[in-house]
This record gives sequence, C-alpha cells and structure tokens, in this order.
Amino acid sequence: MNHFEYRKGELFAEEVPVRKLAEEYGTPLYVYSASTIRRHFKAFDSAFDGLAHMTCFSVKANSNIGVLRLMAEMGGGVDIVSGGELYRALKAGVPGEKIVYSGVGKKAHEIREALEADILMFNVESMPELERINDIALRMGKVARVSFRINPDVDPKTHPYISTGMKKNKFGLDIEHSRIAYALAQELPGIEPIGIDCHIGSQLTTIEPFLEALQKILKFYKELQAMGMDIRYLDLGGGLGITYDQEEPPHPEVFGKALSDAIKDLPLTLILEPGRVIAGNMGILVTEAQYLKSTPSKNFVIVDAAMNDLVRPALYQSFHGIGEVVQHGRAPQMYDVVGPICESSDFLARDRELPEIRQGELLAVFSAGAYGFTMASNYNSRPRTAELIVDGDKVTVARRRETYEDLVALEL
Ligand code: LLP
Repeated sequence: MNHFEYRKGELFAEEVPVRKLAEEYGTPLYVYSASTIRRHFKAFDSAFDGLAHMTCFSVKANSNIGVLRLMAEMGGGVDIVSGGELYRALKAGVPGEKIVYSGVGKKAHEIREALEADILMFNVESMPELERINDIALRMGKVARVSFRINPDVDPKTHPYISTGMKKNKFGLDIEHSRIAYALAQELPGIEPIGIDCHIGSQLTTIEPFLEALQKILKFYKELQAMGMDIRYLDLGGGLGITYDQEEPPHPEVFGKALSDAIKDLPLTLILEPGRVIAGNMGILVTEAQYLKSTPSKNFVIVDAAMNDLVRPALYQSFHGIGEVVQHGRAPQMYDVVGPICESSDFLARDRELPEIRQGELLAVFSAGAYGFTMASNYNSRPRTAELIVDGDKVTVARRRETYEDLVALEL
C-alpha cells in the first residue's frame, strides 16, 4: 500500500496534487511519500517482532539524506557499501552501532572511516579484504567486528544482473573458503568475528531461495559453533521483491514468519538489509510529454525524463507502471514512452497501452523510489532532477534541481 492515489481523476501524493508539484518545481521530478516510507518500514520491521533483530535499510536503494533521516527516526539502521554512503548515513543521524558495511571492494580510507565511526560490523567478502581490515584496525588501535559474506550458491530466480548468490557471481566466499577465513579471523588480533552474512539477490518474488540459503548458512553456523566461535549476528541481506506489474511477492509478514520460525531458538540477532521493499513504491518520477511522434510502426511519446534519470528500463528491461497525472478519459493507444537521450535504449516503457496523450501533459512513472535517483547520471549533460518529500500536506525539497553551473562546477 502506498499513498499515491487518484482522487476524482487526479493523482495525489498524500494530500498534495502531483500536478501542483510539477507546476511549482518543474519536471522531471522525483516525489517521495514520507507516510509510505514509514508504513513500509513498520510493516517490514514488525514482521520480525518477537525476534532480536535490526532492520538496516540498504542505502543504495535511496540515499537521499531526508529519506535516511526518516529511517533513523524510526530506529532503523543502514546497510552501506561505500564511504559516501557512510557519510550520508552519519549525516542523517544513523548511529555507528546500527551500520553494517557490505561490498567487495572496500578501500583503505573507507575502512578507516568506518572504524572511526565504530560501525557494528564489516561484511567481509575476501581474504585480502580481511587482512587489510586487520592491518588498519591494528594501526588505529582498534578491533574490527566482522562477519563473512557467504555465497551459498542458490539461484534467486531474478534478473541475472541482480542475482548475487550463485557460484559464478563475484560476491562473498564459498563455504569452503569461509571455513579458512573464519579460522584466520580467529587468529588475527585486529579482528573479532561476530557474524555470518549472505545476500543472494534482489527483487525476489518467492521465499524458497531465501530459505534454501538460510538452511545452508545455518548448517555452516553449527560448524562455526563447533569451532568455538562466538557468532551473535545473522545478516540475511535484502532482496524481497515488490509489485511493479503483475508480480506477487510474499508480504513481509509471511517472509518474516518463515525466517523467524527457522531461527527463533538460536542465540542470534537477525539483521535484514531491505532496500526496494521499503523504498520502491514510495516514489514516483513525474515527467512532461514534450512531443508526440508517429512512425509507420510506433507512436512515440517523447517525455522530459530519460535513462539518465531512471535507468532501470534501459538496463534491465524493467517494467514501471505509467499513468496520467490528470486523467482525461481518452481512448487508449499503444505507445513507446521515450526520453530525449541519444540512445535507442532510452525508453521508460515500450508497447504500452495508455490513454491518448497530448503535448504538455504530465505522466507519473510509478515504483521509482528505489534505484531511481541513486542510479541517475548527468549523461547528455542533463542536470539531475529535484527530489521532494511529501508528508501529509507538507512538501520538502529534499534535493534541489541541479543547475548548469552545478554541471561544470567541478571542472577546472
Ligand atoms: N544488501 C546487499 C549486500 C545488497 O547488495 C543489496 C542490493 C541489498 C542489501 C538491497 O537489496 P533489495 O532489498 O533492494 O533488493 N539496481 C538494481 C538492484 C541492485 C541491487 C543491488 N544490491 C535494480 O534497480 O533493480
């Protein structure tokens, strides 16, 4: 459930007509709903009530500080993958003890910054990374808490670009290497192994791959216990999918119950790193039709949003719902909704039935709150859009629109 709805044929973001936002702030424009963020966070987090757990929002899905602050206010932690994400999380008021740091390529300065912030733990993905963390921690007179990211070799049955827990993927360590890694970690004076971690992929629409991975991880956890290791945290990553089109992912409650049942008797704090399931449907991208153009095979609506603003359709052929901001009730036609960028992959929708659209009309691209703005670029020297947060009838500019000066500000 989200707080974007049509009232008498007009799309509202909470209590504010989207048309008004477009008039005041221009297009293309990201609009986020604070009530939806809160609702999704609560729905997810409370699915694990009764279990020691921590919901660490995956910052890569939406890293706007205003959005992160909403998570922090609800007691959420974060999952980060870079020094930049750490910087944002700290600025948003997330305490170090609620930060977990994943990613295959942590640089020395990023490790240092995370140790300075006294984060809960590093999710370590290779032996050389473990050694680097140990060296830096020792030099700083600290002990780094770590878990290892296990690659359980499970097929998450999602788009190949966003599946991460299969043998062929670059992520984590297979079980055999994990054994060696934990044994080494036990010996290293700058390292304290406290957790076990895995993340198998994103936009999963069934529970089975999660449970399959969990079984493998729990089996390995028993081995670690037998080795005398004090493992207190089990991080199961993110990955729960959302409805973009016809998908029917499990409700967080069902997901929570299935996982809780499997671990409720173990002395572990569960960590979850949801991104999309919290942020995906809390945001829309508003765009204005610039031109209508028909060729012998297609009707194109050329809009002012492009692949630099929302790359998911171009990159993964992802489906995003599109609707009129003000419904006119005209007969439907088939359209390709495309942007102004000089690439044939610059589309937001292909062969999509939409009510007849006219020049100057506004469209909303739905489910754009996760991996939307965070994957935006300046390709074709397009200034990036503004981001608004609507909370009831209150509108906050969470990020202003970039200007031409911003585009060249860093060039010497
Ligand atoms: N934890 C780790 C270690 C991750 O790598 C990810 C996502 C998450 C958590 C959050 O996953 P989520 O709950 O959002 O599925 N750009 C792609 C998605 C890439 C996901 C990368 N990792 C897209 O637009 O679909």
